[in-house]
Amino acid sequence: MKTKTTFFCQNCGAQFPKWVGKCNSCNEWNTIVEEIIQKKEKRNWKQFTPLKRVSKALKIHEISISNEERIPTDNNELNRVLGGGLVKGSVVLLGGEPGIGKSTLLLQIALLMENKVLYVSGEESQSQIKLRAERLEGTNDNCLILTETNTQNIFKIIEDTAPDVVVIDSIQTLHTDTIEASPGSISQIRESTAELIKFAKETNTPVILIGHITKEGAIAGPKILEHMVDVVLQFEGDRNHTYRILRAQKNRFGSTAELGIYEMQNTGLREVSNPSEILISEKDSDLTGTAISATLEGMRPLMIEVQALVSTAVYGTPQRSATGYNIKRLNMLLAVLEKRAGFRLGAKDVFLNIAGGLKVEDPAIDLAVVCSILSSNEDEPIPQNVCFAAEVGLAGEIRAVNRIEQRIIEAEKLGFEKIILSKFNKIANHNFKIEIIKVSKIEEVVRVLF
Ligand code: TYD
Ligand code: MG
Repeated sequence: MKTKTTFFCQNCGAQFPKWVGKCNSCNEWNTIVEEIIQKKEKRNWKQFTPLKRVSKALKIHEISISNEERIPTDNNELNRVLGGGLVKGSVVLLGGEPGIGKSTLLLQIALLMENKVLYVSGEESQSQIKLRAERLEGTNDNCLILTETNTQNIFKIIEDTAPDVVVIDSIQTLHTDTIEASPGSISQIRESTAELIKFAKETNTPVILIGHITKEGAIAGPKILEHMVDVVLQFEGDRNHTYRILRAQKNRFGSTAELGIYEMQNTGLREVSNPSEILISEKDSDLTGTAISATLEGMRPLMIEVQALVSTAVYGTPQRSATGYNIKRLNMLLAVLEKRAGFRLGAKDVFLNIAGGLKVEDPAIDLAVVCSILSSNEDEPIPQNVCFAAEVGLAGEIRAVNRIEQRIIEAEKLGFEKIILSKFNKIANHNFKIEIIKVSKIEEVVRVLF
């Protein structure tokens, strides 16, 4: 029998009958790869499950919603990111760099849940998983560990054990009998995911998939994987730091603004429920180049320390580097300082770091970034009792930020005595003990601080 092959775009998953240099569906170059597809006999997971439901079209008012649709996990940070627990029948894709702690997180959750969980690993043996489990707390007797990579075999075990939740570690190791491409190939990943989604929807069982990510940070495999699943979570952090951030990139059942914070310890991942206290480094004396910002991640206020180092460039071209902050935005703020506030930073190296290995996108951190740079440049420390919450615009103006009251309350709670924010921020409640300093230009901030 002749082997059938087809060509897939690795970026968008589009299919082509012959090789082309440019994918005409997503316009990417050199993303087309050849794969054997040959569908064997038409079998899918349903062959192993007697359950067969026929869906019916309903009017909107005929559809009932029950509140018991979610299975809460014992992990508050995960619940928060998911929007309140695992939705029944949903498929969650958890992506992250190797070694960041994806397997640890899900095993830990499986061991703490009261429901029956089937943890399928294609990467580690049962004894390896047992060794890992011994470091973690939680002993769910209902947690079953399976080492298997064939989806048909997995469905057979699922049928025998009837789990409430299924965890797959990882989607890239799975292969299905229905097509003949090699494991890890795009068509295998896509087909295996499609079978699992079908299983999840028809049996109302939540499925969590672990996905590897590529060097560029995208989940390995076809991009359409992210469209197929209900929730895409990203587990990130600096491997040299102990903090890990869980973010939702897509969530059909909740907000994508929420954030979960963990700390990697000897005994697994600890939930960090009060992040502000740990993100600010302890120091005895005033150091130059650090500034604290009152930021918001989702609904949660976070006090974050920004550290900057400004020094005369040794080489011809000054270096600019930023960890946890957008480098383009840093360059923009440096240009603003140069052009609007008259600071000569053009011949200086500037290094910026967000403490704790966090990545911050909240624009309210801008003012703290600017002040940490100025503090390092002038060699003048910023008093430890001062914090910042404002955006900086291209004209050097200090702009208002949203939900300012929440930021002020957090700063006050952590013992700050002064908060610097935009003159244009309207504050609803005036009963704050913390001193509120309103500014509208960078020069004014400089006058207040130094
Ligand atoms: P792992 O979950 O295997 O990462 P992933 O599945 O994302 O590839 O995490 C591996 C790292 O976590 C490893 O370097 C060891 C560390 N670790 C701890 O620090 N404490 C622990 O209790 C466990 C289980 C792992
Ligand atoms: Mg792993």
